[in-house]
Amino acid sequence: PLRLAVLASGRGSNLQAILDAIAAQRLRAVVTGVFSDRSSAPVLQRAREAGVAAASLSPRGFATRPDFDRALFARVDAANPDLIVCAGYMRLLDPDVLAPHVGRLVNIHPSLLPAFKGLHTHRQALAAGVSGHGASLHFVTAELDGGPVIAQVRVPVHAGDDEASLAARVLAREHPLLVETLRLFADRRLALREDGVHFDGHALTAPLQL
Ligand code: GAR
Repeated sequence: PLRLAVLASGRGSNLQAILDAIAAQRLRAVVTGVFSDRSSAPVLQRAREAGVAAASLSPRGFATRPDFDRALFARVDAANPDLIVCAGYMRLLDPDVLAPHVGRLVNIHPSLLPAFKGLHTHRQALAAGVSGHGASLHFVTAELDGGPVIAQVRVPVHAGDDEASLAARVLAREHPLLVETLRLFADRRLALREDGVHFDGHALTAPLQL
């Protein structure tokens, strides 16, 4: 099975989707560790309830971002993952610390990248007046929310949507986006190469639409 380490800061519904898919044998994977920068994050409890090792590490104990990220990734590496998944992990990663992991590190982001990077993506989408929105699964590189996109899901924006209604519509599609993409990794069908994302040995010209 594909060995996964999950980084998460909060609620953990994306982790839960992974754990549920594994339990239902819809995903041949094992979560070897869950890591959070917040000791009170509900994601830690979700992990422990599923019998998965969960640890939190507070950035407050470290003088600099690289110091914190080095300590965090030492723990992540000790879980010996094939793939590291940022699932609602809300901190930037130091480029030098993440460099050795590029190609084995993915993030789920609640927008159709390259649109609406950063925070408050649903607010950004509403402010821009777009008619379509969604979520993206991408390889993490030094560029914030700028790494090669593997797969996306689209949802409509309805008249009368607010941040909460739009976020809920996107989140419901994030979970299958994450699980389906992890299935492709488990089947060894995805890789990051110099010219971008390769799927079944061919360079993708556009993100997969799931
Ligand atoms: C998800 O919507 C995820 O896409 C987003 O945070 C939420 C986490 O939910 N991630 C980011 O905004 C990353 N910058 P969850 O804790 O229930 O999985």
